Amino acid sequence: MTQKELTEAILQLKKQKNAIILGHYYQRDEIQALSDFTGDSLALAQVARKAECDIIVFCGVHFMAETAKILNPDKKVLLPDLEASCSLAESCKADDFAPFRAAHPDHMVISYVNCTAEIKAMSDLICTSGNAEQLINSLPADQKIIFAPDKNLGGYINAKTGRNMLLWDGVCTVHDALQAESFIKLKMEHPKAKMIAHPECNAAVLQVSDFVGSTKAMLNYIAKTDAQEIIVGTEPGILYEMRKACPDKTYLVAPTNETCSCNDCGYMKMNTLEKLYNCMLNETPEIILSDELIEKAKQPIVRMLDMSQQLGLIK
Ligand code: 13P
Ligand code: SF4
Repeated sequence: MTQKELTEAILQLKKQKNAIILGHYYQRDEIQALSDFTGDSLALAQVARKAECDIIVFCGVHFMAETAKILNPDKKVLLPDLEASCSLAESCKADDFAPFRAAHPDHMVISYVNCTAEIKAMSDLICTSGNAEQLINSLPADQKIIFAPDKNLGGYINAKTGRNMLLWDGVCTVHDALQAESFIKLKMEHPKAKMIAHPECNAAVLQVSDFVGSTKAMLNYIAKTDAQEIIVGTEPGILYEMRKACPDKTYLVAPTNETCSCNDCGYMKMNTLEKLYNCMLNETPEIILSDELIEKAKQPIVRMLDMSQQLGLIK
């Protein structure tokens, strides 16, 4: 089938099966184009919580689809490719994390949403890059905290809040590979450009950036800034929404290094139109989790959504 035929067939199946398609900003353009809702992890979790449908088709990575399932245990949640994992989730296995947590019983565990359901079940609170700073700031100053699994995001929050959270040693291999030197080189070539970066980037990149924020926060930033040129320090899938929102600006993707100009997240790009069509037709692969795991993992996610609402971060 051609791309157009696949798109039509997917939209037809969506109607037939009373499904909703959620797409992360890092998905392929053609998937974002047909999604009912595109967003960052926080927004997608919120939409998933309120979804009125029989099937949620999650075009993103595994931990995102798991989060949707945890919030909607009675709904069928499909992910076009079950192998679409995340290097952060992979870096923090439950068997390794359990003894780390047990060694610090006086610490509260805050986990970045980019982790498996098992890690969520061992956490007191979940956060996303869109709410981490505010959620952590709202906790008592003397609260001892373990932050997992992203040491770059955790280090950034430590620096912003003056806390000393204990950090799990994980990184997003896509963002961590971005080099401050590449940003600076681009900035020298385009002195009027503003540099924006996702907090999963390493500390050197964050230091040279004009703005640091989640995918949604970066989109808000480009809509507000007068700058015409933007140096983008994140996965290039976001350019689809950036070009849609601010078509007159120029977007320069900071290359990973001198020899590689591709910052694609291999996991995010595993979902294709063809896999999306097949998964909707056959209603598989489906996210299956035990009731016990759902019950345990749900509490810290709901706590995050409730706190975010109280803090006015989401409606
Ligand atoms: P956002 O929460 O900013 O959408 O980020 C998700 C992610 O996987 C970043 O690499
Ligand atoms: Fe995970 Fe990084 Fe890909 Fe985001 S970009 S899904 S953090 S590997």
